[in-house]
Amino acid sequence: DSDFLTPTPPVGWNSWNAFEKDIDENKIKQIADIMVSSGMRDAGYKYLVLDDAWMAAERNENGQLVADSIKFPNGMKAVGDYIHSKGLKYGIYECRGDLTCQNLPGSFEHEEIDMQSFADWGVDYIKLDACFAKKNGRLSSEDFDVYHKAILKTGRPMVLSISDFGSGAWAWGGKNYGQLWRTSGDIFPRIQSVYRCAETSGGDGASHPAFNGLWQFAGPDSWNDPDMLQVGNLKSITEDKVHFSLWSILAAPIMAGNDLRKMSDEVKDIITAKEVLAINQDPRTHQGYRVYEKDSIEIYNKPLSDGTTAVLMLNKGEKVSDITVFWKQIGLAGKQPVRDLWLEKDLGEFSESFTAKSLEKHEHLLIKVGTIGSPLVAGPTPVSEDKYTV
Ligand code: GLA
Repeated sequence: DSDFLTPTPPVGWNSWNAFEKDIDENKIKQIADIMVSSGMRDAGYKYLVLDDAWMAAERNENGQLVADSIKFPNGMKAVGDYIHSKGLKYGIYECRGDLTCQNLPGSFEHEEIDMQSFADWGVDYIKLDACFAKKNGRLSSEDFDVYHKAILKTGRPMVLSISDFGSGAWAWGGKNYGQLWRTSGDIFPRIQSVYRCAETSGGDGASHPAFNGLWQFAGPDSWNDPDMLQVGNLKSITEDKVHFSLWSILAAPIMAGNDLRKMSDEVKDIITAKEVLAINQDPRTHQGYRVYEKDSIEIYNKPLSDGTTAVLMLNKGEKVSDITVFWKQIGLAGKQPVRDLWLEKDLGEFSESFTAKSLEKHEHLLIKVGTIGSPLVAGPTPVSEDKYTV
């Protein structure tokens, strides 16, 4: 074990995309049960995170947050006890404004008391949002410093997820305060929204230079977060798979957001796909980056700890296309073995390049190139620091 809270990107499930405000103790217990029975926990899904709308509209007479007594009649510690009894970790949502995004009590001016409540309830992961935060007049870094210190003061290690997309946490030193930070606005269950979110973390800064080369901020306890998964909520298995492959290659936090009670076997197989998840969790912790983009064709590369490199070849366009990756685009040469990570199958050895044939709209191939045990493949050249002012 390391000193890091999240040496590789955090993996879990979050209630928002599946249920929004409609959460309660029974549902959360069912989700915890399924995380175990479906094999998700054993595949690496560690956190069960309750998003917004778990709390009562009023604090108690001591100024503490309390559970919504209809949804969580036994209080929030009981929820955590159940989650822990299943061998999972407990996550909870709050907001650094005076209200949450759903107009419930935020933590502004209650930072210490609230972080202490979370510690008392056994919380392991805090998703801290930013609605209404502007009103308090602090810089984001000043504000997160307050939370960071309040968390340290409790003595309980808790991951801090900076759910603050407008402030560019990667640039103001978010890693000094939390372990992951949003790079995008909210994700919706549509493939174009998935692409937009992925672009904020893995793109070339076409929308704003401050989003170029975010890969260089990624590492242990330091993750770019293009938002939670919509896998299982999209239109087709093809779309679900490309979403999962993108999050995998971008070393993004993997927070499943589907209703596990209705999960098909196909979707379960996607979110627990061993070799795909292993790319996300690779101990070298290099975030993948794009090496090619033209005419709705994209190629991403993620250098791995075993001397190989993962390559995602994606057709975002309307027409059926072949996609070729040249070894020189990914720092390799000569003859290289290729493995399909979804099929978990070796495809053979290829000289100088590999072509994925006849990819339909939104289809992709995720492969691993190179020989295990080779010297590490170099990553790209860092982008200069002065680009990152948001
Ligand atoms: C914001 C966040 C979402 C979710 C909602 C809850 O929109 O970005 O992820 O937490 O608030 O209100």
